[in-house]
Amino acid sequence: MLRAATCLQLLMMGTSLLSCKREKPQPPHSACPGLDTTTITYNGYVAQVMRWHCISCHSGTNPSGGVRLDSYQEVRRSAEQGDWYRVMQNGSMPPSGKLDDCTLASLKKWIDTGYPQ
Ligand code: HEC
Repeated sequence: MLRAATCLQLLMMGTSLLSCKREKPQPPHSACPGLDTTTITYNGYVAQVMRWHCISCHSGTNPSGGVRLDSYQEVRRSAEQGDWYRVMQNGSMPPSGKLDDCTLASLKKWIDTGYPQ
């Protein structure tokens, strides 16, 4: 959180986005304040959220709950069934703690705009 705030501050001071990206791997930015949320795509955003928060348990031959979240098709299927967003929104996934509101809003947007790839 603190790191994200610092990053944002640096951005505001005019430092290039690249200097932020060169830091250690971080969870994807929540696509909210100051960032364009008009097109949330699977490849551009959703996949990174999945990679960071979900696929450690939801990939491979024996995924938790029988749910794989490591490809567009699998994520879209889960999202269309309704479980995918529901379990994130009610805070049961990821088990480590509920995602922040901006991330959730961005994922919701992806659903509402028809799962752009
Ligand atoms: C630490 C392991 C772990 C992580 C990380 C994790 N899950 Fe899960 N997930 C589970 C387990 C275990 C189950 C099956 C038992 C259950 O439903 O609680 C499950 C079940 C599910 C289900 C099926 C729920 C249902 O009601 O049938 C969905 C959908 C799901 N997870 C989505 C996600 C999403 C999306 C993320 C990332 C935001 C995520 N999970 C991260 C372990 C994990």
